Amino acid sequence: MEKPYRRRDLLGIRNLSAQDIIGILDTAENFREISNREIKKVPTLRGKTVINLFFESSTRTRTSFELAAKRLSADAVNISVSSSSVSKGETLLDTALNLDAMAPDCIVVRHSSAGVPHQLAKVSRAAIVNAGDGANEHPTQALLDAMTIREHKKKIEGLKVAIIGDILHSRVARSNIHLLTKLGAKVRVAGPGTLVPNDFGHLIDERDSDNPKSKIQNPKLEVVPKIEDAIEGADVVMILRIQRERQDSAYFPTLREYSIHYGLTNDRLNLAKKDAIVLHPGPMNRGIEISSDVADSSRSLILDQVKYGVAVRMAVLYLATGGSMTSS
Ligand code: CP
Repeated sequence: MEKPYRRRDLLGIRNLSAQDIIGILDTAENFREISNREIKKVPTLRGKTVINLFFESSTRTRTSFELAAKRLSADAVNISVSSSSVSKGETLLDTALNLDAMAPDCIVVRHSSAGVPHQLAKVSRAAIVNAGDGANEHPTQALLDAMTIREHKKKIEGLKVAIIGDILHSRVARSNIHLLTKLGAKVRVAGPGTLVPNDFGHLIDERDSDNPKSKIQNPKLEVVPKIEDAIEGADVVMILRIQRERQDSAYFPTLREYSIHYGLTNDRLNLAKKDAIVLHPGPMNRGIEISSDVADSSRSLILDQVKYGVAVRMAVLYLATGGSMTSS
């Protein structure tokens, strides 16, 4: 059964309902097998134009949005800041208006400042998809993480998920916390005290997002002091990258100490359930937040995450440009 997709832009997970999220994931399931075909192309988005506007570096997200567009037969154009007129002093808004004047159907944007996709959505006729804005959100990462978890655990509701590391700077953590708690998982976060925001246990519920004074405890989110407490009994262990590019002061003494106290090793992973899976959004700092033993083990689904990223981004582009959501 198909029903119209209510939202054109994808700016974050925070304002999506559980039903929206499940609808996107189900739509992505339908696109999965296209990447296994000998001829990896369908005409679904023929005549549509997608611009990838990346102000920050990216390997996985930009490549998979480009592949997703091309596999759906859309015309895909990639713009990076070094090759654009932003390097000559053009403002972000002028850049967006000029791109919009060329009538793209969708602009995928990554920027180091939180809220940039939201600003572009106010002025653009094209649908805006957030490919990561500062430390705010990375919605397609959370969706591909959810697709990976669903594939291997067959559900999300009731799972115990540990999110470990640099929570403060992590848009991946924010989008995942919104998504996983909306779908009924229990999330425990842990990391150095300097890298876990004080009010993280009080993420504003979407019902109260217009009233900052009405912060309520998210009953499905717990901040725990030690990473061992977060990992114990977990079904899913999600390790975050140390984001040195966003750290403007010393949050921990040395990388070696970080690795000793907060790195995911086999010994620490053994505290999780026997069939626990390990996720990392990439790029990995091997030997710092995750040991190579764990990263290369059968419990690590890091390359599955990348694989499902293409299907998720096909679904997001399809829905953003007017496609209808599949419901199971
Ligand atoms: N996970 C992620 O966003 O990776 P990239 O920075 O390579 O896109």
